[in-house]
Amino acid sequence: MSAEANIGVVGLAVMGSNLARNLASREGNTVAVFNRSHDKTEHLVAEHPEAGFVAAKTYAEFADALAAPRTAIIMVKAGAGTDAVIDELVKVFEPGDIIVDGGNALFTDTMRREKAVRETGIHFVGAGISGGEEGALHGPSIMPGGSAESWVTLKPILESIAAVAEGEPCVTHIGTDGAGHFVKMIHNGIEYADMQLIAEAYDLIRRGTGKSPAEIADVFAHWNTGELESYLIEITAEVLRQVDAATGEPLVDVIVDQAGAKGTGAWTVQNALDLGIPVSGIAEAVFARSLSSKPAQRAAAADLPGPAETWAVDDADAFVEDVRQALFASKIVAYSQGFDEIVAGAAEYGWDIRKGEVAKIWRGGCIIRAQFLNRITEAYAENPGLDALLVAPYFRDALAGAQEAWRRVVVAAARAGIPSPAFSSSLAYYDGLRADRLPAALVQGQRDFFGAHTYKRIDKEGTFHTLWSGDRSEVEAVDTH
Ligand code: 6PG
Repeated sequence: MSAEANIGVVGLAVMGSNLARNLASREGNTVAVFNRSHDKTEHLVAEHPEAGFVAAKTYAEFADALAAPRTAIIMVKAGAGTDAVIDELVKVFEPGDIIVDGGNALFTDTMRREKAVRETGIHFVGAGISGGEEGALHGPSIMPGGSAESWVTLKPILESIAAVAEGEPCVTHIGTDGAGHFVKMIHNGIEYADMQLIAEAYDLIRRGTGKSPAEIADVFAHWNTGELESYLIEITAEVLRQVDAATGEPLVDVIVDQAGAKGTGAWTVQNALDLGIPVSGIAEAVFARSLSSKPAQRAAAADLPGPAETWAVDDADAFVEDVRQALFASKIVAYSQGFDEIVAGAAEYGWDIRKGEVAKIWRGGCIIRAQFLNRITEAYAENPGLDALLVAPYFRDALAGAQEAWRRVVVAAARAGIPSPAFSSSLAYYDGLRADRLPAALVQGQRDFFGAHTYKRIDKEGTFHTLWSGDRSEVEAVDTH
């Protein structure tokens, strides 16, 4: 087999096939394809003769089909399968070649793999790819990590297949080793929060106003013309409008109310806990899915009492507008928390992540694509060292305008017994962050009481411990330094 292909794809399930077709459709690319079971390769090649794929039966054939330096994108289910493919590719590739993992790998796995592969002289690049099946085919948002050297080769290829937003390709080199998968993980955490917030908005409107799913679809479609404009709002309108063919009911009423999860949202929260970053909105979104998926507990708790009074809002239009504002404010919190985790992760793992560029490449192709991301890019362009996204002028003003409505919605939800974990935790975060003084002082006192963990004082330098036992009137403060 002659080395005629400039790029290869390993793993030809839907995402891999679509990415291979996307690559093949771009000027100048010849794509080698390989799948563990050759049937799938043959099927893809037969279905898409226009793509001019070069089919390989073995890893050796795959390597032979690629011109040096070889570049291959692995599109297999994240986990042990990725390691198995890397092991095979390393055997047939040479120093200077590039292996890209386009799956949803955990960034620490990517760091481990990058280190191991680097020893062979081959480049390993973990690249987050967002946009689902359609994105893979027509233009995803791509978040590559790996060495700067590999980016030189990858840049034109990835730019040619990425989504385009306002004339710019939705791909940029995020940082070394696992930085790309780290940022993709945060993308997914924000995705979870965004989805949960939208779901809470729908639930509140439905139960507060009695609007049907189709009517709420109209509300979302209208919201999609304003500052909330985003892919997730757009598809929510479509999901709510869908009627079940079998029953004639709104499809949303026929779907079992237990949300699945493949784990990337949980990773975001686990890592945030390690970094000490409060991503409470994202965490509540992950936990809301977990709670929904506990049918036995939910059945056991179903007869616990709720509020005595039934609830209906007086002014449906005003309530819908309040919910819109609560959604916007909570969404700002989710993004702010996500970017806090990016900043903390970059510091912890030694990456120079340009936050404004991350927001830019999320404007198109990915699941959280939204008009709003331009405001994030602007905020970081104005002040790269922002303490928190929510204090940037645009977001500060937006929160100031929305906060009264946000409070009304959270109060209404609590009164009505409607769970709104993401709305209410985002509001608590906002109030916590802006608080002049927090009861954390009392927690410090408690810690010092039972564990002599010490505390700092507002009026003096140093670290102090109170002698709590004995005569309390003569409590003594000791500077332990
Ligand atoms: C994307 C999506 C994609 C996938 C999620 C779904 O950016 O294209 O995030 O990666 O749809 O992994 O995750 P859950 O199954 O956990 O909801």
